[in-house]
Amino acid sequence: MRVAGTVRVPGDKSISHRALMLAALASPRGGRGGVGTSELTGLLTGEDVKSSARVLRQLGAEISSIREGAQVTVRASRLSQPASRLYCGNSGTSARLTLGILAGQPFAATLTGDASLRRRPMRRVTEPLRAMGARIVEERGDCLPLTIRGGWLRPLKYTTPVASAQLKSALLLAALTGRVAVTIREPYRSRDHTERLFVHLGLDLHFHDGAISYQPSAVGVPAFRVTVPGDASSAAFLVAAAVLAEGGELLLENVGVNPTRTGFLVVLARMGAAVERVNLGEQGGEPVADLLVRPAALRATSVTAEEVPTLVDEVPVLAVLASRAMGETVFREVGELRVKESNRLELLAANLRAVGVAAEARGNNLHVQGTDRPPRGRVDTARDHRLAMAFAVLGTLPGAAVRLSERRSVAISYPRFFTDLSRLAPRAARHRD
Ligand code: S3P
Repeated sequence: MRVAGTVRVPGDKSISHRALMLAALASPRGGRGGVGTSELTGLLTGEDVKSSARVLRQLGAEISSIREGAQVTVRASRLSQPASRLYCGNSGTSARLTLGILAGQPFAATLTGDASLRRRPMRRVTEPLRAMGARIVEERGDCLPLTIRGGWLRPLKYTTPVASAQLKSALLLAALTGRVAVTIREPYRSRDHTERLFVHLGLDLHFHDGAISYQPSAVGVPAFRVTVPGDASSAAFLVAAAVLAEGGELLLENVGVNPTRTGFLVVLARMGAAVERVNLGEQGGEPVADLLVRPAALRATSVTAEEVPTLVDEVPVLAVLASRAMGETVFREVGELRVKESNRLELLAANLRAVGVAAEARGNNLHVQGTDRPPRGRVDTARDHRLAMAFAVLGTLPGAAVRLSERRSVAISYPRFFTDLSRLAPRAARHRD
């Protein structure tokens, strides 16, 4: 298979959530034309972002419809008690960040989600929010549904037990809506989109001694305009397809290259695939570049615990690449993958084995042995978008026969995925549910 062409991947999922939320929290009387209206361009149209928009609308924000190519306008108003439960769908980011927003609101709201989201741990967020003064009632222990009643909050100094951008962002949003100071330390640095957007909007956020500090100020969030860069995590699947190809070249335009997100490029370089960055620029406080990708022969590597937060969503696709590399690749301390949209750690190992690759989860580490045998077998995606996309990439190899249990889940983060993949690697079009 040869790859060829130029692709523009969809808008960054993490930044899209944050842009919508901060736009909804803008001061209703501030900003353009005095009406607190923000304009967001390049927003992801995936289901997860629509979940955040739905929840924010239930809380009173006016958000225009989220459609491919359309600019989204957000008109802020004072948030108010929702008439019904806030349904976050499959989106952990919607749920956890909304908990942060609600911690500073003087009303009660109940959050819930789909079966996958209702299995994911929430105490990592509810514990520090309780320490700030939010009242939270659990219906089923650690998981959703949860009812939160916010109000008067206390300042917080907190060291997070896991490197989680969702947790860090929930605390920053609680401090913003509750008008209190927070100082946060993380075991390893997680993605910093919330911090960058705060700084971009002129909020008082600083880094010192490895900690992030936010101080409330009298002036609130101004209404703003932002263009969301392409999602590095979505780009990673096409990068992988191009690296595994037998020839050709792929250009991915306008991808976010924030260093807290590009660990997969660092690991890929170690494995022997150098992805070139051209046309470097900046959008809304985020670095962007075009990525130029060529096929490469891969060698195994070891991914360290410190690297994991910078590539946490790319482990599935990196594991697929590792299955084509010479030697054994080890991903260290990837236990967090057990509590993503699926138990990615166990499912990655089981699905790799199902297509003829020696792979195993040992404790919190994932071991993948490279092979050049064509992958053949049935993959259970567990409706996890990143598992579906990673194994679809594996299915583009010559001689491959990879059947996916479903492929609709890609709508969560990359609705056009199969169209883009089959454009650059026509074999992929043959996948069936
Ligand atoms: C995200 C943070 C990461 C990531 C998720 C999106 C975010 O999760 O896996 O897809 O937008 O903040 P954690 O915060 O749980 O590490």
